[in-house]
Amino acid sequence: MTQNSAVKPLLEVLEGRRQQVPPVWMMRQAGRYLPEYRELRTRAGGFLDLCFTPEYAAEVTLQPIRRFNFDAAIIFSDILVIPYALGRSVRFEAGEGPRLDPLDTPDKVQTLAARADFAKLEPVYEALRRVRRELDPKIALIGFCGAPWTVATYMVAGQGTPDQAPARMMAYRHAEAFAKIIDVLVENSIRYLLGQLRAGADALQIFDTWAGVLPPREFQRWSIEPARRIVEGVRKEVPDAKIIGFPRGAGAQLPAYVEATGVDAVSIDWAAEPAMIRERVQNRVAVQGNLDPLVLIAGGTALDRAVDDVLANYASGRLIFNLGHGIQPETPIAHVEQMLKRVRAYRS
Ligand code: CP3
Repeated sequence: MTQNSAVKPLLEVLEGRRQQVPPVWMMRQAGRYLPEYRELRTRAGGFLDLCFTPEYAAEVTLQPIRRFNFDAAIIFSDILVIPYALGRSVRFEAGEGPRLDPLDTPDKVQTLAARADFAKLEPVYEALRRVRRELDPKIALIGFCGAPWTVATYMVAGQGTPDQAPARMMAYRHAEAFAKIIDVLVENSIRYLLGQLRAGADALQIFDTWAGVLPPREFQRWSIEPARRIVEGVRKEVPDAKIIGFPRGAGAQLPAYVEATGVDAVSIDWAAEPAMIRERVQNRVAVQGNLDPLVLIAGGTALDRAVDDVLANYASGRLIFNLGHGIQPETPIAHVEQMLKRVRAYRS
């Protein structure tokens, strides 16, 4: 047995084998709540420089692993590297979040490139190769992309928006032009994810952060169907590719998402209804989640109780312990340690 074929608990769960102690990692685990991240972030200059310098990206990917020994490392990058590789202007202003050139009319959509310049993403692949070399073989390496709908909400508006109104409006008014953006994102996301698998990723996650604002018909068209095509496109070349979907806020539409897309696991947010999830989601796929990131800031007995709730709700089935969304910058490191200790003391 080669070193790299060591048993990875997270992959075991994705392959159908529940673990006695659930594997655990956190969305956005590399980030501003860590002093060593803030230090390297300052040294790198811009956020995209951090993403596209393999030495730095590999280092910040490994920082939370060294501190907490999570069961998975997620490659440090961003969902907006795809619009960037498509030749769109993408900037991260300090304290303001991403800024892109808005793609908000059918005429502008005509100018959208069909194919990304994948040479621009080569540093991400190089960072993955570096991490894979340094990572304990028991720890899974996760690659990712944004779901087409969520990436499109930033491309259309040119920035983050409270309710994703510009993209929702464009999808109603100019459905054909909007569908073209989605198609371009589907095709390029497939290629990008395949590149990440070749570079050493063990599993993939599709982040659909803004799925929850869509009414059922739109959710079917802009969240489920693109995710289904991405899963199909990746598996056409890598039939056993392990894929986690995260249609945040999907609520009652989660069973339909799971059934139609063919993902191996879904990441659920903290508002998910446990009985529904157990009976109609976890009976088919693994579940990942779903601690409220705010209770991780609060700590104390509220945190213990919330960790116990996640375990009581889901650990009797296939569970990957995680947050319901990304960790927030103001989270105390001691609370992450408290959470981990409690999850890892669990036996069933
Ligand atoms: O999980 C990880 O540790 C891997 C890295 C990762 C980042 N972004 C790094 C990042 C991942 C998986 C993402 C995904 C991402 N990016 C999503 C989907 C998941 C989610 O959390 O909802 C979205 C919507 C984005 C787009 C994005 N990137 C926004 C809106 C912002 C600004 C808001 C913010 O948190 O600052 C970013 C910047 C960003 N991406 C940061 C990090 C660590 C902060 C930048 C900094 O250090 O200044």
